[in-house]
Amino acid sequence: MVLRGADRAAGVLKFHTDARSGKVEQLGTQPRVAWLFYDPESKLQVRTEGSARVIREAQGATLAWQGLSELSKRTYCGPQAPGSMAEAPTSGLPVELESRTPTESEWAEAACRFAVVECRTEVLEILQLSFSGHTRARFRLGPAGWEGEWLVP
Ligand SMILES: Cc1cc2nc3c(=O)[nH]c(=O)nc-3n(C[C@H](O)[C@H](O)[C@H](O)COP(=O)(O)O)c2cc1C
Repeated sequence: MVLRGADRAAGVLKFHTDARSGKVEQLGTQPRVAWLFYDPESKLQVRTEGSARVIREAQGATLAWQGLSELSKRTYCGPQAPGSMAEAPTSGLPVELESRTPTESEWAEAACRFAVVECRTEVLEILQLSFSGHTRARFRLGPAGWEGEWLVP
């Protein structure tokens, strides 16, 4: 997953996806998302958990779509949903689209399949790996703001 945006003050993390994907369907049933990050250089693992909102036609999605590179936008030009069965290895794009730029109407169709998922962080956990012993902490967003506690790793 590519992290597409992070709003520190609002505690929001964003990713882009195809509105036809399995994950969007799953979010319809249970709008919860967990992220896992690991930075090997600082040996820091961060896990977040929170509620998710799928944004499609709203301005947030339209603006994000306009800011995408052509390469990223092409991902949404396939007629079938991601995860559909295929008879042979496929890019998901119609073969003739693999060697030309989509037309305006093809871009418009692709834009309709595009979604931004905004995840509001409610629980954040860090694990700091260290030779002398790891340390772990959990933060929860309560009515009075973030509250943290140490955990045994
Ligand atoms: C480097 C990389 C980046 C990816 N970025 C995204 C992304 O930003 N959005 C997304 O929906 N899937 C992304 N994927 C694919 C997902 O990891 C996932 O495997 C795929 O979307 C299948 O999910 P589904 O069950 O919802 O169809 C990425 C995969 C890789 C390898």
